[in-house]
Amino acid sequence: MQLPETQVAVLETASASEAQSIDRLADELDRKPETITGAVFALEEEGLVAVEDRERVAYDLTDEGRTYLDDGLPEVRLYRAAVDAGAADDPASMGDLTDAAGLDGQAVRIALSNYARKGYGHIDSGDVSADPDADPDADPEAAALEAVRDGETDGVDENTLDQLERRGLVEAHETTERLVTLTDDGVTALMEGVEAYEAVDRLTPAMLTSGEWRDVEFADYNVAAEAAEPSTGRLHVLRQIVERVKEVLVGMGFQEMEGPHADADFWINDCLFMPQDHPARTHWDRFALENPSHVDELPGDLVERVRDAHLHGVGENSEGYHSEWDEEFARAVALRGHTTSLSTRYLSGHQIGDLEPPQRFFSVEKAYRNDTLDATHLLEFFQIEGWVMAEDLSVRDLMGTFEEFYAHFGITDIEFKPHYNPYTEPSFELFGTHPETGELIEIGNSGIFRQEMLEPLGVDADVMAWGLAGERLAMLITGAEDIRDIHGTLTDLDFLRNAEVTY
Ligand code: PHE
Repeated sequence: MQLPETQVAVLETASASEAQSIDRLADELDRKPETITGAVFALEEEGLVAVEDRERVAYDLTDEGRTYLDDGLPEVRLYRAAVDAGAADDPASMGDLTDAAGLDGQAVRIALSNYARKGYGHIDSGDVSADPDADPDADPEAAALEAVRDGETDGVDENTLDQLERRGLVEAHETTERLVTLTDDGVTALMEGVEAYEAVDRLTPAMLTSGEWRDVEFADYNVAAEAAEPSTGRLHVLRQIVERVKEVLVGMGFQEMEGPHADADFWINDCLFMPQDHPARTHWDRFALENPSHVDELPGDLVERVRDAHLHGVGENSEGYHSEWDEEFARAVALRGHTTSLSTRYLSGHQIGDLEPPQRFFSVEKAYRNDTLDATHLLEFFQIEGWVMAEDLSVRDLMGTFEEFYAHFGITDIEFKPHYNPYTEPSFELFGTHPETGELIEIGNSGIFRQEMLEPLGVDADVMAWGLAGERLAMLITGAEDIRDIHGTLTDLDFLRNAEVTY
């Protein structure tokens, strides 16, 4: 019989009487476990070996376990120091012993809590005695640590391994082991003689030009073999969604806006007809910048028109706020609390020049808020900002735009709720149903910009606009229930590695 070289090696190493794990065969033959797995599957198909899966518990050393492997277990070190200090005859002071053993802090506590338990002696009001019959060289936990290091825990007493796990020195996990035995056919084949041929596993350009490919044997490609799972870099879930949102909006005819993360309050608030004494403008809610604390200059003509709107309103039915409007306050710099600052910049004509209707603009950028962290709030989030400028717009246009947008993500059950913003009339919030909890969560805020905002900016058309939350969209898409799993110091790495962003 002729077989590829690796299969012959496996066949010759496997035994009919003793099942051997793939890892052990790989070790013995000095090949990669994947290579051996491939060969084993091929041999199994030929009926030459039998493969049996066995669930077993495997152990890994923790960092602490590894330290004790090098330095010795704290209780063993204490015992050796005690014996050296003559504590087998006369108890010695604990402080002296821990100094001599080089134990401090946590290690002292660990030594004390294991010393008597393991029969090394007694501790009595600060004095340590040593049992002369104890044998630190035969410490079963130290031996078990070594066995874990060598991956040979089969013969080790289970209670000792449990104890190491409780002490946090090893971690146990379930694994499946493949055990290989020679079948009768395998034994017969070996007796009749098996010849190795070199199987080619890769076609090279050289083989093609020389024509050698015609004569070689190609190794079978085993698609059923279990392969190692590469843990590679991956685009963050939020990033994937942000990129997709941009694609969708570009597909809907929108152009992207750009602008500063830290900006003058003028663009963030004043241009939005937000009164200067609005609660969201206090230092509690803003991330103010210290350096620079203010921009030097604002466009003068625009400042005058905005001031006028704040003081007196715009048009006959509008009153304004009847309160002070301070330019210095408007020049203060903060991290933008919403990306609507980009919309005011673009609408004003100061960003890319005057815009004639119709226009559609968007951004998907970070906004920053001094919120209290919880399952649906972070200090920063991706805001999906957008606006449409046209001659005649109604709430139906706005709702229809959202329905079209969210449908791209498979979300077809958004709900609307009347709302209030100083800069829009009418205004409404958007809600979506969380796929796991069934709860309605707020996913955005929107409305039609007021004259008090548009006229000073020099816009003579209707503008409907919105700010949607990227993270909330991510929750609806991935089913994540806690935003902190996705972003921040508490992220769930397994979730980020495995979450599927499908729509
Ligand atoms: N700025 C609003 C927010 O952050 C979103 C919004 C933008 C609402 C434009 C209406 C119009 O919640």
